[in-house]
Amino acid sequence: MARENPLMSFSFSLRYLCHFTLLISVLSFVSFLFRHNTTLCYFPYDHNPNTDHTFDHHHDNETIDLLTFSSAWNHLTFSPSKPNKILKIAVVVKKWPQKSQAGGLERHALTLHLALANRGHEVHVFTAASPSFPEYGLKNLRFHLSEPTSGGYLDQASLSQELQTQNASGRPFDVVHTESVGLLHTRAKNLPNVVASWHGIAYETFHSDIIQELLRQADVAAGAETEQPPPSAPALTERAKRVVEEVKFFQRYAHHVATSDHCGDVLKRIYMIPEERVHIVLNGVDESVFKPDVSKRESFRERFGVRSVAKNREPPLVLGIAGRLVKDKGHPLMFSALKRVFEENKKARENVVVLVAGDGPWGNRYKELGSSNVIVLGPLDQEKLAEFYNAIDVFVNPTLRAQGLDHTLLEAMVSGKPVLATRLASITGSVVVGPHLGYTFSPNVESLAEAISRVVSDGREELERKGKEARKRSLRLFTASKMADAYERLFLCISDKSYCTIQA
Ligand SMILES: *[C@@H]1O[C@H](CO)[C@@H](O)[C@H](O)[C@H]1NC(C)=O
Ligand SMILES: *[C@@H]1O[C@H](CO)[C@@H](O)[C@H](O)[C@H]1NC(C)=O
Repeated sequence: MARENPLMSFSFSLRYLCHFTLLISVLSFVSFLFRHNTTLCYFPYDHNPNTDHTFDHHHDNETIDLLTFSSAWNHLTFSPSKPNKILKIAVVVKKWPQKSQAGGLERHALTLHLALANRGHEVHVFTAASPSFPEYGLKNLRFHLSEPTSGGYLDQASLSQELQTQNASGRPFDVVHTESVGLLHTRAKNLPNVVASWHGIAYETFHSDIIQELLRQADVAAGAETEQPPPSAPALTERAKRVVEEVKFFQRYAHHVATSDHCGDVLKRIYMIPEERVHIVLNGVDESVFKPDVSKRESFRERFGVRSVAKNREPPLVLGIAGRLVKDKGHPLMFSALKRVFEENKKARENVVVLVAGDGPWGNRYKELGSSNVIVLGPLDQEKLAEFYNAIDVFVNPTLRAQGLDHTLLEAMVSGKPVLATRLASITGSVVVGPHLGYTFSPNVESLAEAISRVVSDGREELERKGKEARKRSLRLFTASKMADAYERLFLCISDKSYCTIQA
């Protein structure tokens, strides 16, 4: 049996997604953004959701055509033995990560291509030079650095030249992987083996702009906010034009990887890319770094004085926030919601502690809340962050960025924690696919304050139950090895058609 029970769990989660999406479509005032999702409500296999964890032998011997597989490849299980074929892979990425200071796109490139190099593939990284560069001690992981342009972009001319030089030495590349537009479409056209991974497309960004515009109008920002002015109506028009541009130039990339189910759907239905060229591979996080560890829980809490905050004998209920503490990650919203909850909810005041990890202007604002219930930790390195996830009871990510798929949600879930996150299509469609995994809210203060109050009234036992479910699902779908398996198979399939089917 080449895979777990993907069709069952897949149709089960589809069902969740579908009900969820329908509900959102009805409730949401931006329902038009979601309407195309309702086509997902067609179920090729009609299973009883209760059988999610058993295997239906009826579908035991089915051949799956990977290129047209319409769900995330993470649902599939590929043979654990190494493939006989060693791939020569080029990856083009604007910047290579330095330590833990890296955005989602760069971390994706690092996690994935280190894993592929560790499996023996020959990986050539084309990226911008920087003053210090990390050493990995892998002979088959080679870097080709070029001076960035004055705008900080990759110099496409020298990049292309080096790409061709390397393509002509030894044997040609089996696959050229570009993270977003690292390799510009003008250079990618006519190459049949290019794969572009998208960590945010203009259509999703448009949704973020709508949210920001609504919030600006509602004037929720607590006090003066100078970080970046919210987009005004002309900016919204510009964004719509940007979508049209993307629809045109995306066609030039031979293959596309969407990092969420929603993004895959948009690429197929709105960007009109043929389905055999759109593949969904959800992000994965390092499961050997992020994992449950009860011994870390109390020590971390003690170090930051969590227990002394609680005013009664019960152990406190700990909410955690991590990441860049900036406006578009939803911190003004979180600030106002917390303020409201602590004012109105006695139980929360007496028993809730909020741990704020990360860097950014809103770190100081949280301090200004003047609440002994909020502890600002500052930035944490990866190892400390793993301890942080162990110390909390629920992870809150109020992001207003609809583009891409936030790694922190996945890290929290792999660590065995339920999450509270914004009701964005990428999140409800791929991550928090049901209430058994956590909570979602609409991006406004009322809805977030309500969700926090629900967490408080549900209490620690319920959160623990959801956390176990979250870990179970994320070990199945969101690990770095799962992601690397899926990409390796996609790259093999692009280089050799015989890898393009699997037997269920
Ligand atoms: C599975 O499919 C293969 C090829 O289609 C066939 O030869 C084989 O008999 C099938 N096995 C079962 C158990 O149906
Ligand atoms: C690499 O070389 C092969 C064979 O000559 C060619 O078909 C392919 O387009 C080249 N790829 C790039 C990225 O230049």
